[in-house]
Amino acid sequence: MKIIKFLVFLISLQIAAQQGGMWIPSLLNGMNEQEMENLGSHLSAQDIYDVNNSSLKDAIAHFNGGCTSEVISSNGLILTNHHCGFSQIQSHSSLENDYLKNGFWAMSLNEELPNEGLYVEFIKRIDDVTAQALNGVVDTMTEIEKQAAIDKNIYTLRKSAIKESWQEIKVKPFFKGNQYFLFITERFEDIRLVGAPPTSIGKFGSDTDNWVWPRHTGDFSIFRIYADKNNKPTTYSKDNVPYQPAHHLPVSLDGVEEGDFTMVFGFPGRTNEYLPAIAIEQITQKINPSNIAIRNAALKIIDDYMKNDDQIRIQYASKQARIANSWKRWIGENLGIEKSDAIQKKRDFEAIFAAEVKKQGIENEYGSILSDFDKLYTDFESIAIKRSNFSEVFNTNNELMKILLKVYQMELKGAKSKESFENARANVVESFNTFYKNYNATVDRKVYEATMPLFTTNVDESIYDKTGFTSLETATKLLNGNSKQVVKKLSKDVAYQYAKPFFDEYYKTIGPKYNQLKTEIAAVQKKYMKALMQVMPDKRYYPDANSTLRITYGQVKGYAPRDAVYYTPVTYLDGVVEKYIPDDYEFDVPEKLLDLYREKDYGNYADTNGKLPVCFIGTNHTTGGNSGSPAIDADGNLVGLNFDRVWEGTMSDMNYDPDICRNIMVDVRYVLFIIDKYAGASHLIDEMTLVHPKAKSKDETNSNLELQTN
Ligand code: ARG
Ligand code: GLU
Repeated sequence: MKIIKFLVFLISLQIAAQQGGMWIPSLLNGMNEQEMENLGSHLSAQDIYDVNNSSLKDAIAHFNGGCTSEVISSNGLILTNHHCGFSQIQSHSSLENDYLKNGFWAMSLNEELPNEGLYVEFIKRIDDVTAQALNGVVDTMTEIEKQAAIDKNIYTLRKSAIKESWQEIKVKPFFKGNQYFLFITERFEDIRLVGAPPTSIGKFGSDTDNWVWPRHTGDFSIFRIYADKNNKPTTYSKDNVPYQPAHHLPVSLDGVEEGDFTMVFGFPGRTNEYLPAIAIEQITQKINPSNIAIRNAALKIIDDYMKNDDQIRIQYASKQARIANSWKRWIGENLGIEKSDAIQKKRDFEAIFAAEVKKQGIENEYGSILSDFDKLYTDFESIAIKRSNFSEVFNTNNELMKILLKVYQMELKGAKSKESFENARANVVESFNTFYKNYNATVDRKVYEATMPLFTTNVDESIYDKTGFTSLETATKLLNGNSKQVVKKLSKDVAYQYAKPFFDEYYKTIGPKYNQLKTEIAAVQKKYMKALMQVMPDKRYYPDANSTLRITYGQVKGYAPRDAVYYTPVTYLDGVVEKYIPDDYEFDVPEKLLDLYREKDYGNYADTNGKLPVCFIGTNHTTGGNSGSPAIDADGNLVGLNFDRVWEGTMSDMNYDPDICRNIMVDVRYVLFIIDKYAGASHLIDEMTLVHPKAKSKDETNSNLELQTN
């Protein structure tokens, strides 16, 4: 027995290093399956991904292209984060029906709210199509010729792939374009809002706690997928019916404890794990700081208005959350890269790589990669900063500029023909409606005054007084008439005239130059990726995130962010109450929740220690897009909902480090508790399949013990 324990201990030491990575679900046989088993999983590769039988993947859906959701009932109920459903919750909110503030619960199917434009997408199958995609692509071609050949191959692949009429096809590059995969997908467009906790639960701790552990946020919301009468994907109709999925996740009432296996199954958006040192240096020392400064300036203004005006709070809730989220992530990323000495470590690694290339006698092929990077990134620096700052000021923080940019694009497109003008105008006019619903010119003007000086010395504070683009009515008027008339009116609008030279510069100079260098860098990065895998074949390589379905696995685990500090991996409702600040916009707690806490009225949802778990962390390697992804236990049950990463580890997009990178999940028992005890929506609980996997495995261990004593 002792020897076995010791061996298990040794193996666990070895696998402690074997974490991190976002793996392609159709390729888990072998190495991944083994690693997962070592971490305590009972799942086979087929349990996770199977084309012919239902498997876990059938319960996972890309949520609106940016988040993840999972099916948790046989009637198409899906769970995602509160912050993923935030703009839908916001769009149904008004001062009279403030669902942001008070939460929303549909007590029957009839009360579920449709959401225009919202969709979810399932992956039906994944195929490696590298050979076909790269067919005929040879080294003597220029990058443009290569891409043209690949595009043509992909076109053929898409046309010849076998699929059902209601399915769609996507082909995406992996490993920087060294591999290609084809996806058959199913997209549902009738997705209704079923439930959301109040912001004081769903976004508890707001920006102060965002990206931070210990965390106490109930970051979840619930939707339902509707299908046509044949259970097929379709757009909204009142005749649609709840979708019957091929698989829905059972929900575990037993939770997890430190050391337990977890996996996170979802759609991570973008990572950059194979960047050269010089790129990381540029991002963290030049691009991040200038963007942080711009958002700092904007947020100071927006936050202030939101705190003092409920109308503005509702109008700006979603926009503010978006701006604040990356702002804080960049700050954390920079701190982490610096503290872990990541740039120097990459340099050291590059020296080893260069030596290895030399040793293997392949300098002809790969010897110039690092110096090519150096040269290209040096040329790239000023244009990359400029482009990024442009996008921050003109397309993110300042809303007048953002809408003018749309109008400018309309003018460009509209110059081609009468028809393209009409189409472009219809698009812009349509976007006006949502834009002006959430627009406040006073706030925006202040944002302009604070951010524009960070981009240019040419700041004209009078433009807001004279432009027609600060209200829906006058903006719509400006776009009335034929294309000639519209262009003429635009030429007299001061704000448009002010912005136009910046847009021209962007379209004529910054954009093209940026794209050209970016293409050259991408070609070297592709070669570097190939070289790494060839020169150091024993390392673990996983493709960077690209918004495709992946799994990542690890263990529930605390971490030591600095000397003498250790964070345990689970938080409880007690911590919510510790953080409670009455009437605070970030840390207020609803009275009802305080009552439930005082009475310890936790139903079936408390931990064995009698406390109600709220969040937990693990070593799963996640990124933006994994929001709403299920945390799944060793047996395929839902135990949590991924929603964030810890502050010290936000650098994991460029430098995953298993010592301090942790993902943050809401414990699913907290989700159930809020639905049931807080909201009284027990009909939703009744739809789910609740399980007690630990009770079962305890029985098994007991009977094993009995066998042994016999
Ligand atoms: N940081 C998490 C993510 O990247 C949560 C963001 C939403 N919460 C917030 N306070 N803005 O999406
Ligand atoms: N909250 C993030 C999201 O929207 C997930 C956290 C992360 O970036 O890891 O996807």
